[in-house]
Formats: sequence, C-alpha cells, structure tokens
Amino acid sequence: MQSPFHSKWFVDIMKLNSGRCGIECGVGDGGTYAMLATLCDDITGIDIEPMSDDIHSKMVGIPCQWNYIREDCTNSKYLRGLDDDSVDKFHYDAMSNGKDIAAVINIMYNKMKDDGIWCFDNFHILHFSAMLILMRQWLDYHKGQELMLYPFAIVSDNDRRGKIYLTKNRVSSSRYYRKISGIELMRVPSCRWISERNNNGN
Ligand SMILES: C[S@@+](CC[C@H](N)C(=O)[O-])C[C@H]1O[C@@H](n2cnc3c(N)ncnc32)[C@H](O)[C@@H]1O
Repeated sequence: MQSPFHSKWFVDIMKLNSGRCGIECGVGDGGTYAMLATLCDDITGIDIEPMSDDIHSKMVGIPCQWNYIREDCTNSKYLRGLDDDSVDKFHYDAMSNGKDIAAVINIMYNKMKDDGIWCFDNFHILHFSAMLILMRQWLDYHKGQELMLYPFAIVSDNDRRGKIYLTKNRVSSSRYYRKISGIELMRVPSCRWISERNNNGN
C-alpha cells in the first residue's frame, strides 16, 4: 500500500506517454495495478503468488482488458513471449535486489517501446549508497551489454521509500522531464547503467 503522495505522482508520471499497454510485476493486492489500469486499454499483472480476491473488486468499472499471470517475473515465459516494441508502461514492484531487477530489465528491454515509461519501486532513495550498490549489481549482471535507461524522475516520500522513473530514449526522457518540471534542460541527465569497463580496461 503506497502513500497518496506516491499514488498521485505514479498516475501523473505514467500518463506522460499516451500509449495504453501496461505490465506490472508484483501485483499483490492490486493497488498500483488498478491505478495503472485506469491509463491502459490492456494490462497484465505478473505475480509469483496466486491472485488475491481483492483484485476483482478493485477492477470493477475500469474499462480495461486485464489479466493475471502467476509466474516468477525474473524468468517469465509470458514476458518473454511479448512482441518487441509493444509495452508503453511498466511497473516493477517485486523483489528489490539487483540481480532480479537486472533479469527483468533484460527480458523487458526489447519489449518496451522507445518512449515507454519504466517505474521501479522500493528504492530507499535517501539511502543513496543503497541505490549505488543496486546499480553495481546490475552492471555486474549485464557484463558489458549496452542497455541504456535514462532516469527522468525520482519520487521519494518522507518514509524514505521511493520510485524511480526511466525511459530508453534520450529525447523522451527530456520531454518527460520538461513536462514534469516545465524547465528546458541544457543537458539531459543520463545514466549509463551498463559500464564500459570492458573497453577501458577497468
Ligand atoms: C510489494 S508487493 C506488491 C504491491 C502491489 N504493487 C500493490 O500496490 O499493492 C510485492 C509483490 O511481489 C510479488 N513477487 C515477489 N517476488 C516475485 C517474483 N520473483 N515474480 C513475481 N512476483 C513476485 C509478491 O508475491 C508480492 O505480491
């Protein structure tokens, strides 16, 4: 269950692109799933546990084609079977360790549209060092593959939990940032998740 503060930002940010195909990993009782569904024509939730009874009641009145897949999202047949360039909005709210996140990024990278929005939950944003450790794990896991993701928003509540929002495309990242902040950026902040250490000998 997330705070009203996070819910507001979640919906406002996830609607920055107009695409209406959504995926959520980590559905739980369906709180964020139902929120995302209001922005989608079709949405799939993946969770390792059986579907909670709450989900049906949360989806009442939301005009969205939805479905629930019981799978481990780090090794999901369903996710692997998605068409390339087909997903607009992706919310990850399952296990928050670098290896699992990296595995899911690996599966989803080609499935996401260029302007698709990725949201990762459960970052302890104020513990910046924890975030760096996670990133380090991603780098180790990918061993030099180039999977660029550009963060354009980090939202942290006063309980220190936060969400980070990213996209694959530099132009989209700049556009989303401008829409949120109203500021034209001189330079888009980018994050090279995958290091070039193989090239520079480090
Ligand atoms: C924090 S809860 C999700 C909360 C939910 N988004 C909400 O708004 O209520 C995390 C969920 O991730 C699921 N989960 C944990 N590991 C998973 C995995 N490897 N694959 C899929 N789901 C997983 C858990 O079963 C749990 O339902």
